[in-house]
Amino acid sequence: MINKGIILAGGTGTRMSPLTKAVNKQLLPIYDKPLIFYPLSILMLSKIRDILIIVNKGQINQYRKLIQNGKNLGIKVSYQEQSKPRGLPDAFILGEKFIDNKSVAMILGDNFFYGQGLSENLNKYKKLKSGARIILHRVLNPELFGVAKVNKNNKILNIIEKPKKYISNLAVTGLYFFDKKVVKYSKQLKPSSRKELEIVDLLKIYLRKKKLTSEILGRGSAWLDSGSIEDFYKTSAFVSAIENRQGFKIGCPEEIAFNNKWIGKKEILNAIQFYGNCNYANYLKKLI
Ligand code: TTP
Repeated sequence: MINKGIILAGGTGTRMSPLTKAVNKQLLPIYDKPLIFYPLSILMLSKIRDILIIVNKGQINQYRKLIQNGKNLGIKVSYQEQSKPRGLPDAFILGEKFIDNKSVAMILGDNFFYGQGLSENLNKYKKLKSGARIILHRVLNPELFGVAKVNKNNKILNIIEKPKKYISNLAVTGLYFFDKKVVKYSKQLKPSSRKELEIVDLLKIYLRKKKLTSEILGRGSAWLDSGSIEDFYKTSAFVSAIENRQGFKIGCPEEIAFNNKWIGKKEILNAIQFYGNCNYANYLKKLI
């Protein structure tokens, strides 16, 4: 069972410059809330309450203003700076103390997941005894992603980063579950030609030891990542379409905390005051 989670929300956000010159990418809006609310919600839906947010240099104060120490959400949030983007497995080296020799989930700060039955699945995924688990989703353009080839029983045969030749259309999403060995294995990795530690190399260690399993998110689920301006607009349009049709918000951490009974009416009232007179606060009013 995994009770700790890391949100990797550093990076340079080069593709989104100049928007990301002064502001961390994950603080930019996806429709009506900062991008970070979505991956944070995913960890909270997984009932993970001990969370480390890794951000780039100089941005911790911005995050503290927004998410604080998590008490307002009935969770514990700590922060760690990544001085430069050394790659995704760097999260486990930086987070060694936080991980504290336990198993850990990791979600990329710019990943968006949505779909019927997602919470139930997340709570199943996190029941990892040993090894690593990745979440796969079908895409039309696998050459742009890390891709896994699996057999009929979902057993992983191979993983390739941005394969030039087609091996499969199953992209490795930015949500991972690892046992406690992840810190040790991450420290063994050598930077790739783009001078980053590669998540695919880390997964391959688990694969070689026959300790890597996968789950496929079905076609009723959405997985989007926000790396470019186009992605931001597309994901925003998706969230807007669903929220304005159903009246439910996607990625509202207070709502998840309230439903999980981690916080009560008092904390929701505090949140309403904190956000001020806005649509988001009006939504929170309706919850109570
Ligand atoms: P990327 O999309 O690889 O990088 P980026 O967000 O900095 O964007 P760009 O390519 O335009 O420069 O990163 C995926 C996610 O992982 C994103 O949320 C940032 C985060 N990240 C880190 O926090 N630290 C890192 O070292 C890397 C490589 C990524």
